[in-house]
Amino acid sequence: MAGRKPSGKSPAPKKRTQAKAAQKTEQGAAAPEAWLKQAHVLTEALPFMQRYDRKTVVIKYGGHAMGDATLSKLFAHDVVLLKQAGINPVIVHGGGPQIASMLDRLDIKSEFRDGLRVTDAATIEVVEMVLAGAINKQIVTALNQAGGRAVGISGKDGNLILAEKTRSRKNARSNVEKAANLGFVGSPKTITTDVLDVMLASDIIPVIAPIATSADGQTLNVNADTAAGAIAAAVQAERLLMLTDVRGVLDKKGNLVTRLGVRQANALIRNGTAQGGMIPKLQTAIDAVKNGVGATAILDGRVPNAILLELFTALGAGTLVE
Ligand SMILES: Nc1ncnc2c1ncn2[C@@H]1O[C@H](COP(=O)(O)OP(=O)(O)OP(=O)(O)O)[C@@H](O)[C@H]1O
Ligand SMILES: [Mg+2]
Repeated sequence: MAGRKPSGKSPAPKKRTQAKAAQKTEQGAAAPEAWLKQAHVLTEALPFMQRYDRKTVVIKYGGHAMGDATLSKLFAHDVVLLKQAGINPVIVHGGGPQIASMLDRLDIKSEFRDGLRVTDAATIEVVEMVLAGAINKQIVTALNQAGGRAVGISGKDGNLILAEKTRSRKNARSNVEKAANLGFVGSPKTITTDVLDVMLASDIIPVIAPIATSADGQTLNVNADTAAGAIAAAVQAERLLMLTDVRGVLDKKGNLVTRLGVRQANALIRNGTAQGGMIPKLQTAIDAVKNGVGATAILDGRVPNAILLELFTALGAGTLVE
């Protein structure tokens, strides 16, 4: 509307308003081009919006990608924009660094095996408190501040994630299954989506903490990647996005691998290229593809608007496993 003459019906503008209008027109001189660009950007996003229309996109928001306040705001804006555009985002979050810092403050020692946290009785209490409490509500608040309507739940709510204690784990290299006691760590067994379905059919954005219940009512810590993968499969998501703190999957030389098939992803685990937290991430991507999820992208959560870049541009970002 800038630059348009006021209609005859409008009352004569006062002096201050006139000064303001003059200022606006001056700035407006450069504006048409910028606005044309903006309009063009929107038209380019149309085919992508149509592709994901009413589809579910599960977004694993890694604890390592959450550190920066500006990035967290952008993340929340991106997610609210998806919902506004008719796409159904489901957020599943991690919280590795935040749990570590709380365990540290409470002087509780904790160790990792192949990217999974060994969780004793004292640790599981802290894990649930930090994940389902502080972090979950922090994300809910950010989404609501961005104009969304977010509701935070854990895998316990509505029996969303029923898990079984993880009693063995595969040796990443030899692929041999070995007994292992990781404590209160669970693998998802049954995903009950009815609460999620209600949310997805409304304007609510679900935010899920990866805490599960066992059949006998124990609290189990589920790796957030694993939980996101199981949920993505249960709702047959079009995409699973995993936001982390690296550019994507890196090869032995540290170069970004932009595309991976299931076989190659397996090889990266076996030959030791993927280590620590990247092991459950790749395993989740492999399982997701096998279980009917469209594709999984492992993205750099430190890049502003990483989600929009991946979903709404031809560029894509990070590593796509399909
Ligand atoms: N081949 C690899 N390519 C990329 N990253 C790798 C590789 N091998 C190991 N990693 C490690 O995996 C890490 C990502 O997993 P990590 O579990 O630490 O974070 P996250 O899953 O994003 O966060 P959270 O566990 O809190 O949800 C990277 O920071 C990197 O150090
Ligand atoms: Mg992790």
